[in-house]
Amino acid sequence: MVWKFASSMPNHVITIDGPSGSGKGTIASRLAKRLGFTLLDSGALYRVLGLAAQRANLSPDADSDAIAELANNLDIGFGRPSIDSPWIEGSVWFGIEDVSLAIRTDEASAMASQVAAISAVRTALLQRQRDFLSANGLVADGRDMGTTVFPNAAVKIFLTASVEARAERRYKQLIGKGIDAILPALLSELQARDARDTQRSASPLKPANDAITIDSTAMSIEQVMFQVIDLVNKKLG
Ligand code: DC
Repeated sequence: MVWKFASSMPNHVITIDGPSGSGKGTIASRLAKRLGFTLLDSGALYRVLGLAAQRANLSPDADSDAIAELANNLDIGFGRPSIDSPWIEGSVWFGIEDVSLAIRTDEASAMASQVAAISAVRTALLQRQRDFLSANGLVADGRDMGTTVFPNAAVKIFLTASVEARAERRYKQLIGKGIDAILPALLSELQARDARDTQRSASPLKPANDAITIDSTAMSIEQVMFQVIDLVNKKLG
C-alpha cells in the first residue's frame, strides 16, 4: 500500500548507501534536516535487532529462525519510545529503553552485521523500512536502500572511502571521545564487516546501477555535502 504511494511520488526518495565509516550517516542526517525530509537510518534497525538477539542469547549462526521471529515483532522507536513521549533528536529506542549508545559499540556493530546477513531477517524488515515513506520526502541510509528497499528512488548515492581512511576516521572519533582504540584492530574489524556486508547472498552491499558513486577518501564532510546538494539540486530541481 505504502509502496504504491511512493511510486507515484518517486522524486521524494533519496538513498545513500555505502560501507561502514563512509560518512553516510552524517550526510544523510544533514541532508534530511536541510530538505525537511524524514530520515531512515536503516542500520539502526539491524543494530537494535542484534542487541535484542544478544540479550535473548540467540546466535546468528544457530538461531536464524528465532532471530527472524524477533525481527517480525521488534519494538523499535526512532526519536521517542511512543507517540506521546517527548522527541529526543537522534535517539533510538528498544521498547521503553533508550539504546542510542548501546547499539553503537563495536560488539553491537559486529552483531548487527551478522543478523543482517540472515535472509528472513531482511524480508521481515523490508516493509517496516518502506513504511518510512512520507509526504514530505525521505532520505534513507543503509546498504541496500537503492538496490532493494527503494529501487524507484530518484536520487541514489553510493558513498564510499578506502578502508584505511574509514578506520582512521573511526580511530580519531574514539580517541576524541576519550575511548582507547587500536588502529590495526579497527582496520581488521572494518575489513571483516565489509566482507560480510558485500559477500552475503541477501541484499549485499553494492551500488545500484543508477547510483552516483562519491569517494570521500580525500574529502571533508563539508565537501561531500556540497557535492550531494549539487546532485540533489540537479536531479530534483
Ligand atoms: O549503517 P550501520 O553501520 O549502522 O549498519 C549496521 C550493520 O547493519 C552493518 O554491518 C550492515 C547492516 N545493514 C544492512 O545490512 N543493511 C542496511 N540497509 C543497513 C545496515
